[in-house]
Amino acid sequence: MSKTLRAASFLDKGGVGKTTSTAHLAVALEEQGKDVLLLDLAGKQGDLSKHFGVWSEYQDRIADDDAWPNIATVFDESWGTIKKKLGDQATKDLILATGEGPDIIPAHPGLDSLDGDLGNIDNARDRYSRLDGFLDSDVDPLGYDAVLIDLPGLSNNICYNGLWAAKNVVVPIEPGSFEDGQAEQLERDLEKIGNNFGVEISLSLVLPNKIDTRRTLDRDYLEIFEEKFPESIAPEHVPYSQDIRNATESGQTAFAIDEPSTTADRAQSAYLSAASTLLDRLED
Ligand SMILES: Nc1ncnc2c1ncn2[C@@H]1O[C@H](COP(=O)(O)OP(=O)(O)O)[C@@H](O)[C@H]1O
Ligand SMILES: [Mg+2]
Repeated sequence: MSKTLRAASFLDKGGVGKTTSTAHLAVALEEQGKDVLLLDLAGKQGDLSKHFGVWSEYQDRIADDDAWPNIATVFDESWGTIKKKLGDQATKDLILATGEGPDIIPAHPGLDSLDGDLGNIDNARDRYSRLDGFLDSDVDPLGYDAVLIDLPGLSNNICYNGLWAAKNVVVPIEPGSFEDGQAEQLERDLEKIGNNFGVEISLSLVLPNKIDTRRTLDRDYLEIFEEKFPESIAPEHVPYSQDIRNATESGQTAFAIDEPSTTADRAQSAYLSAASTLLDRLED
């Protein structure tokens, strides 16, 4: 059995497409024959599950108090006790299947207080390596090819757990959001976090998102992105596509659209090529 690859979406900013990219890259990897597990750490609103139309099903489970254990409990001291009681089933109970290939561990309201709870752990290594420990001991044995982690758009303790565990980041960027200084800021952030942890965090994939090539500004930004990130830029950009929004609202990715528009078609192609680039970089 080969190793489970890991990557996490990261940018200290909301609304750039972290969740959308994570969902679509997961489906793109599945299209290439990979078995993918998604992990939603991006907040209790469950955005990633909504991309696959499984959020209301999960809400029902939570309402029936049947969502214990959940993603927040794996960070907890109680996880050991839960495993003693439930055995291997403890981890399997966290996972839902989606209709598009990837499996998912959904977000949970418990994520709300998790950041503060992690902050109370004195030892930095212990505080930041909880997720890594869970993936090593409980998820890797399940034999997925890859785990993709969706992170919140801010640098908190949950985010640091994701970075520590994955050590590889996927960064969606949109035109205009990346005034010159921000590219350097991102690289400085990753270096600083890596230094604090004593690990190397790689910028594995920079994915230009919401691009409208009819706009000069967007074309200029694409050039800037290519110059700034020659090593990690994705082979194709993801166009701005109303179809992506519509698909998300109906609980699907753009891969599930019956008659994709030109932009949805281009988006699919961009996600597929980005997914193979990401795979190559994670396997390196
Ligand atoms: N390529 C795209 N074309 C059109 N809308 C997009 C695209 N990518 C993301 N969006 C929309 O932008 C909004 C923010 O995306 P999201 O993935 O939730 O960002 P983040 O997770 O970084 O906060 C959502 O409404 C999403 O549907
Ligand atoms: Mg998000």
